[in-house]
Amino acid sequence: MTIKVIYCSRSGNTKLLAESAAAAVETNAETTDTQLEEKADIVLLGSSVYAGSPDKSVYEFLEKNADKIGTLAVFGSSASGSSAFRKIKPFAEKLGIRVFEKFYNCPGHFLFMHKEHPDQNDLDGVSAFAKMVRYRA
Ligand SMILES: Cc1cc2nc3c(=O)[nH]c(=O)nc-3n(C[C@H](O)[C@H](O)[C@H](O)COP(=O)(O)O)c2cc1C
Repeated sequence: MTIKVIYCSRSGNTKLLAESAAAAVETNAETTDTQLEEKADIVLLGSSVYAGSPDKSVYEFLEKNADKIGTLAVFGSSASGSSAFRKIKPFAEKLGIRVFEKFYNCPGHFLFMHKEHPDQNDLDGVSAFAKMVRYRA
């Protein structure tokens, strides 16, 4: 089974999650600039929200790689607790991508909020999510 971990991170919070998820499923974390060369059974996609939406590189990654994604699963961090999943799911489904029904989201440091996050508990949580997706997708 091929599993890829792809992320976009403007200030490093989602990058930490991506590296933890990747280590859990024995792969490397790569950014949304990546072009998939072969079909991946599972793509774990890390995205935060900025003014309510994912970075445009997340949408561009999905558009460029739609035919190479078996199942897409979303993880990320945000200040408010809202997940990029809400926007990514309909976008990906329109491209014909199967989207795993569960997502993982944790608090991410932003201004005076969530100063210590992602913390170890958040990193353990995303690792468990990645392993669960590998087992169930
Ligand atoms: C320009 C900007 C806009 C943001 N807008 C939102 C938002 O609408 N909702 C929210 O919950 N968090 C918002 N955040 C907080 C980020 O989602 C949060 O800090 C996240 O952990 C950043 O992840 P990153 O370090 O991987 O980029 C915003 C952060 C920035 C810098």
